[in-house]
Amino acid sequence: MPKELKDDPLWYKKAVFYEVFPRGFYDSNNDGFGDLKGVTEKLEFLSWLGIDCIWLLPFYASPMKDGGYDISDFENVDPSYGTFEDLIELIDKAHSMGIRVISDLVVNHSSDQHPWFLESRSSRDNPKADWYVWSDDDSLYSNARIIFTDVENSNWAWDQVRQQYYWHRFYSHQPDLNYDNPEVQEVMLNVVKRWLDLGLDGFRLDAVSYLFQRNNTNCENLPETHEFLKLLRKEIDSRYPNRVLLAEVNQWPTDLVDYFGEDDECHMCFQFPLMPRMFMAVRREQRLPITEILSLTPNIPENCQWGLFLRNHDELTLEQVSDEERDYMFSEYAKDNRMKRHMGIARRFAPLVDNSRSIAELLHSMLFSLPGSPILYYGDEIMMGDNTYLKDRDSVRTPMQWTPDRNGGFSLANFEQLYLPPLMDPVYGYQSVNVESQFKNPGSFLQWIKKLITVRSNYQVFGSGKFEILHDDNPSIFAFLRYFEEQIGASELIEENTVVEVDNIEIIDQTSANKVLCIYNLSRFAQPAELDLSKYKGAKLVELSGRVLFPQITESPYRFTLGPHGYYWFEITDQI
Ligand code: NOJ
Repeated sequence: MPKELKDDPLWYKKAVFYEVFPRGFYDSNNDGFGDLKGVTEKLEFLSWLGIDCIWLLPFYASPMKDGGYDISDFENVDPSYGTFEDLIELIDKAHSMGIRVISDLVVNHSSDQHPWFLESRSSRDNPKADWYVWSDDDSLYSNARIIFTDVENSNWAWDQVRQQYYWHRFYSHQPDLNYDNPEVQEVMLNVVKRWLDLGLDGFRLDAVSYLFQRNNTNCENLPETHEFLKLLRKEIDSRYPNRVLLAEVNQWPTDLVDYFGEDDECHMCFQFPLMPRMFMAVRREQRLPITEILSLTPNIPENCQWGLFLRNHDELTLEQVSDEERDYMFSEYAKDNRMKRHMGIARRFAPLVDNSRSIAELLHSMLFSLPGSPILYYGDEIMMGDNTYLKDRDSVRTPMQWTPDRNGGFSLANFEQLYLPPLMDPVYGYQSVNVESQFKNPGSFLQWIKKLITVRSNYQVFGSGKFEILHDDNPSIFAFLRYFEEQIGASELIEENTVVEVDNIEIIDQTSANKVLCIYNLSRFAQPAELDLSKYKGAKLVELSGRVLFPQITESPYRFTLGPHGYYWFEITDQI
């Protein structure tokens, strides 16, 4: 039975998100490019998987020099992706299946092909002359770092037509909009309304920390940016209920949390600093990188939420780690230079973990239980591989592998027509790794992750509960509690839980379990753990996926043995 879309302003706190690159998901008209209709055709699959919200990468008109993040018309769908009607159909169908849809909104810049920029560059006194950031002096704002250091050597580019420099934080074909100009702010607010009026459930705000420039600053996280976000949020709150703003802000935790404001800016922010540390922790076989960054992360407003992810359509960014940590990550995870892109590693999840099923399970169960909402990247649910011979971040954007048939079931176009070649190597190629065969195989990673999504969705405590790290002397053991402070109708709920059978976990009611204990072994060897659970003396542990009862908690330390990369989720209950 498909889920229902509930009228719930905090839906994003419980949701599992799924990132779709429409170009690479499914090609409905067999022209070699994935499209919006293709996403609609695969909604059944996403509904079966159990995700709650799709995040669509940019589908707006674009010369596609940066995966669609170079927009030449903010108000229209790129013809290669389909039509306006295709988008409406996708949103409506997703909603009828209980799935929400958010999309990328590239607020910071446009393509240099955008008519606004063409007009702006045409003279120094045209009506849009100040819609972009122009200067005669390319030494202005010299404290701002260059983001794509491997391809750009300045944030200024010379324009032959206007005979001035223009400002760009990313590629030089992506000029930054000038937010000091009120017309720019207004036009962007109208873009936002246009798409929300169609029924979109919110936006991922791309590169939102770079909106303003001020001399003698690094031009990031400026107070003016926060003012604009407050304005945007106010507009949304006044007219559009149940929407979400997810900030893409690649910053240190203390700067990151400012983007929540006092629950009057973004509802969600990606947890950028945590992500590389999850990979670091598992390679070092120690919890420290994770616990350290969590201890440096301030609390966030009650209604706000972290967006947790392991991989996405970009490089595994190493901007938020120290120089030594970056060297370590490169030496461990990018053994070949061609795997390095910008300031990170352009590889997919499965090859990063050497295709290890046990590490994949460990990291995903952490992703699904740490404070935040998990965001999966298309293809990672089947452990798809990458192609590091492709340029830029195309290495992680190859066609979704649906079947073992021609082009991996992505498209019936000729191979030569495809936007990128599908993977065909013996380990990760579509003949071995695809949705169809994993769907049929109960032991597959796809089936495992579906079950993980179901278990998480059954326990609200993962989305909204509090978080407390439990100490263990063994540095390879990472244990924490997720809990609600008040005991909500525990006995009634447990009664419901007791009828649950191992193979039928779907029927557990959402609100059950006030306290969940999560425990992980980051080592490749079996490890003992001893936790002081004495404050729950008399309660019992029930393992969540199989609902297996474990011994009662006493005054003495509770002992566990975890297999290599082992993990458990337990409900702590005194109701059995
Ligand atoms: C962040 C996006 O995730 C990335 O793909 C893009 O290249 C930059 N922003 C520039 O828009």
